[in-house]
Amino acid sequence: MKIINLKTNHIENPLGFDLSKPSLSFVTCDTNAKKQVAAQIIVALDKEFNDIVFDSGKSEEIDSLAFKLPIDLRPRIRYYWKVTVWANNGDIATSESAWFETAKIDESWSSKWITPELDSVIHPVLNKEFNIEKSIKCARAYVCGLGLYEININGQKCGEEYLAPNFNAYDKWLQYQTYDITNTLEQGKNTIDVLLGNGMYKGRFGLSRTENLYGDKFALLCEIVIDFEDGTSLVINSDETWKSRKSKILSSGIYDGEVYDSTFNEQTSYEVREIDLGTDKLKARLSLPVKMKERLKPIEIITTPAGETVLDLGQNMVGWIEFKTNAPKGSEITLQYGEILQEGNFYRDNLQSAKCEFKYISDGEEAVVRPHFTYYGFRYVKVSGYHGKVNSDNFTGCVLYSDMELTGHIETSNPLVNRLFLNALWGQKGNFLDVPTDCPQRDERLGWTGDAQVFSGTASFNMDTFAFFNKYMYDIAREQEVREGLVPNIVPVAGTGDGCSSGWSDVATIIPWNVYVQYGDKRILEQQFDSMKAWVDFIKKQDDNSGSRRLWITSFQLGDWLALDGENPNSFAGGTETGFIASAYYYYSSRIVAKAAKILEKEELFKEYEALASEIREAIRKEYFTSTGRLALKNQTAYIIALYMDLAPEGKVERVINDLRERFKADKNHLKTGFIGTPYLCKALSENRCNDLAYTLLLNKDYPSWLYAVTMGATTIWERWNSVLPDGKISGTDMNSLNHYSYGSIVEWMYRYMAGINPVESKPGFRHIKLTPMPDYRLKYAKASYNSSVGLYESQWEISEEGNLSFRFLIPFNASATLILPNAKLENVKVNSKLLKETDLNSSKSNENVIVELVSGSYEFYYVPKVAYIKYYSTECSYEELVKNEESKKRLVEVLPIMLPDHMIGKVGDKSLRELSHMPFFPVSSDVLDELDKKLGEIKVNID
Ligand code: BGC
Repeated sequence: MKIINLKTNHIENPLGFDLSKPSLSFVTCDTNAKKQVAAQIIVALDKEFNDIVFDSGKSEEIDSLAFKLPIDLRPRIRYYWKVTVWANNGDIATSESAWFETAKIDESWSSKWITPELDSVIHPVLNKEFNIEKSIKCARAYVCGLGLYEININGQKCGEEYLAPNFNAYDKWLQYQTYDITNTLEQGKNTIDVLLGNGMYKGRFGLSRTENLYGDKFALLCEIVIDFEDGTSLVINSDETWKSRKSKILSSGIYDGEVYDSTFNEQTSYEVREIDLGTDKLKARLSLPVKMKERLKPIEIITTPAGETVLDLGQNMVGWIEFKTNAPKGSEITLQYGEILQEGNFYRDNLQSAKCEFKYISDGEEAVVRPHFTYYGFRYVKVSGYHGKVNSDNFTGCVLYSDMELTGHIETSNPLVNRLFLNALWGQKGNFLDVPTDCPQRDERLGWTGDAQVFSGTASFNMDTFAFFNKYMYDIAREQEVREGLVPNIVPVAGTGDGCSSGWSDVATIIPWNVYVQYGDKRILEQQFDSMKAWVDFIKKQDDNSGSRRLWITSFQLGDWLALDGENPNSFAGGTETGFIASAYYYYSSRIVAKAAKILEKEELFKEYEALASEIREAIRKEYFTSTGRLALKNQTAYIIALYMDLAPEGKVERVINDLRERFKADKNHLKTGFIGTPYLCKALSENRCNDLAYTLLLNKDYPSWLYAVTMGATTIWERWNSVLPDGKISGTDMNSLNHYSYGSIVEWMYRYMAGINPVESKPGFRHIKLTPMPDYRLKYAKASYNSSVGLYESQWEISEEGNLSFRFLIPFNASATLILPNAKLENVKVNSKLLKETDLNSSKSNENVIVELVSGSYEFYYVPKVAYIKYYSTECSYEELVKNEESKKRLVEVLPIMLPDHMIGKVGDKSLRELSHMPFFPVSSDVLDELDKKLGEIKVNID
């Protein structure tokens, strides 16, 4: 037995984070035991655990997902902790030790904010020299530099992160980082150089594309605390004793790139002066560091028809190119970044006003070069002015994103689906640089809340997003504070104003809820509850001001953004009535607030929001449904939302499902949904007996579909269903990004429905799951793994040539699953080579399914499905014709042990049995196929 993944506030060994309410988590693995019976957590001030500050004792109460450490933390202390687990089979294991280290907590700052006495467009280096005579025990630097900074000590970059201090609502709070510089400092002379860049703080940024959104001056706050072996300390403060000089960076900007002149070597020293930014806004970091997570080599160096030299990274990625050069002094090397070639040539008009360049002027020395204060979203890089032959050895694509652990993987028998999964994953890598952004390349790259909301489910399967979203949600709450609960469409606001919209602003309720269910740590709800409630209260106020109809139909809404059923096909607006969408989210968010209140034991609030939610649902039913259950709107998204959000009137779900089927039939089984409908589309279909249609939509290859982009060579998710036209031409330059993750939300369906790994709200954090794999014969197999907070889950299925089903599952230690095997006869099912009925697993049947309760362990299930996954059938006669004739219908009923489900009768139109049999779960029992074959001949005669 082993204990791994020790995390504090969901971060491994966090240094200098805001840890005010530490929550400890760990995973037990490599054991045959099923359950934790007790655990003990010990926290000490030393690695040897001599100086113990907390000992839980052996306790049955310790939750491995979130143990709230009940001690007050002291500033600037490294705490070590370890855990021992006792398992039900007598196994005992103790973990290696982990640590977390506090920042300054409430200690005041002795350092001052300083700014150089230089024109504010000149990128400065702020520097300080000092001597160390004694032997160092431990040293830390606490730093915030604005807009962005890199700190070097004795010529060495501190820390592994880039683009610090990250991006947040700078007008409300500023994050400082902590660096362990014990081994960077030296005895004798030491030099600190802090290089400053513009970033989002003062560079050209935001929808206004203007400068100085948060401030117009470079600034630095730096406090270095050195503890010596002899027990004394030295503090080096940023103050007016520091100096500054002009750096080699001539310009920098998130959108436009960077110009770096290595020939520039002016050493003139300029004074610095104090600048009054105060220290009230400073807070220990919440942002995960942005790190260089991967390095890619160009797959090809292209000479284009226009004669350009272009690197092809083979993958639309985010970060920058690092290159080696020994160009002669004064040579100017320019890199330009783009996402796609057009007619074989370099292209970047879809980046709009963003220049996305890097210029390097060589000083004649051999150098490895990279930018500092920008990043690019690109697959292709045009290289000009490079001295010598451009070859891939000298160029590397450095992939940057927030330091999150990869947790999920999906593979199927269909390579296009596999690529779709990767495209969404790369979309996440490229757009999770501290803030979840809409896109990483053009002149936006903003924290559009709707995009983050719809993708959060997928994101949290792919990677451990707790800390990442925790920080984003903190920003959301801060932006709301000054807006009476309104959640802006873009967070951090970055000068974009107070626009809000359903689906976007509901980020305030949906992400905390998703994160809670995914990771099982209530802290996110505790932290966000006021913000969640404030958003619903904001809508309610608007509703109350316009007659308390319990609908939200009074404001401008973004609606089903980019859906294909809008009145004007060129407009961004989808066709679904925005008041319906807004009212549905009003309901959905109110319900989430009620559920969160319940969990936080706020009984009164639970009742209040539950009542509000019921009133809204009633109002929606009255306004949008006829008394017979017909939905008054005819859009795919409207049906999908009605089903997904459970809006259909009592007893009318069937009607909505049938009408939805009709809708899709009229749309030739192709999607038309936008940002609102798409994330729920396949989920609502699979949940409502339309799993076949979910697979049809997944597997469609022609426009509009997910795989259309894949067949066009996409390596990330596009903003539009047709961002690139079949002839390879970009469909337009107005809002057309090739790395926009919203439609990547299909991947959540792959984990939850295709593979069936579903968290259960009442046992969050995957302590218990509903395991509902939903195979479809159009894939031979699918497998998913998910390294949850409890441990590793695996789920895979395979359909053999004969149509038989096999499954493999792994349920981690201290977890359990309710498995629902589709299309199974209890008597037939085998598990780990034995008949299920002969094992001691608790099983039962329900309709076409077999239900089995699983505890931790690995399982292989096998059975001949109750309903064959048949590929073709022998008659051409249409089913409708068949059932028209009472006699033949009767005989068919006799022949087929399971009749077609009611909803399919009369719905199959002119499809022949041959076509019908291509539908999954076509209910023809495999054991009677032969018999049916024989008897159908007779039936056919009857029809004729
Ligand atoms: C962004 C979207 C965003 C939308 C909403 C666009 O410019 O790129 O992803 O959600 O605006 O208005």
